[in-house]
Amino acid sequence: MSNPADELAELIRDARAHATWLRDAGEERVLRDRQAVALQRPPQAPSNQVRPARPPTAPAPIAKPAPVAQRPLAPPAPVAPPSGDPVARLAQIRADLGDCKRCKLCQKRKNLVFGVGNPRAELVFVGEGPGENEDLQGEPFVGAAGQLLDKMIEAMGLSRQQVYICNVVKCRPPGNRNPEPDEIEQCEPFLLQQLDAIRPKVVVALGKFAAQTLLRDPTSITRMRGQWRAYRGMKLMPTFHPSYLLRSPSEKRKAWDDLQLVMKELGLERPKK
Ligand code: URA
Repeated sequence: MSNPADELAELIRDARAHATWLRDAGEERVLRDRQAVALQRPPQAPSNQVRPARPPTAPAPIAKPAPVAQRPLAPPAPVAPPSGDPVARLAQIRADLGDCKRCKLCQKRKNLVFGVGNPRAELVFVGEGPGENEDLQGEPFVGAAGQLLDKMIEAMGLSRQQVYICNVVKCRPPGNRNPEPDEIEQCEPFLLQQLDAIRPKVVVALGKFAAQTLLRDPTSITRMRGQWRAYRGMKLMPTFHPSYLLRSPSEKRKAWDDLQLVMKELGLERPKK
């Protein structure tokens, strides 16, 4: 986001998502956790025992709620050692997912969107989650943003079949809202298994949500993009999401700069026209 109106819109979106989460998580638990943060002790389960009264000091400050992307997700599982044929591994991971009902996104999805491309790809693109077209077709990035992603991949001298494309969550969040922490917690382990099976040299995180979630880093995508990050033994490049580039075409130049860093890392030549 580069202009104040975009930043304000982003803040409002985060605040709304946070309000939804507060409601879903249940105010009581949130207040208990906040109080624990304020008192700097671990949150406690409700108990029938009488709690000692707070010392008669000034009321403890209520901790400022963290924006959505900063909410602590559990740390991701450790990197698995390389294990055999990536084709077989991916097939096994897909089979393990099955007709997944691990989170509420299963209720409205039409298709689970696992991922497509080369199981031995050196380059993996990770988006946020399927949109409407992806949900209908069961394949990531097939709508307008997908068409732009295809052009970006082709500009790198690659094809969609040569890279691997997937998302942080595999089922469409209703109305294309951001995936929620409980949904990420259920789904991300499968993404990590996919990445561990493919073992690409480079992961490109498409957009704020994917970058912040994978890296557990709330820094804005505007500041994160274009900087290499270490990620599970791979190199990760955060860049703008194609949907954002469709809304802000003047930012395409920066995304292209990021992709050129990726090309350099992979020893790719820019294709001749
Ligand atoms: N946006 C995403 O983040 N992923 C898709 O698969 C499609 C649109």
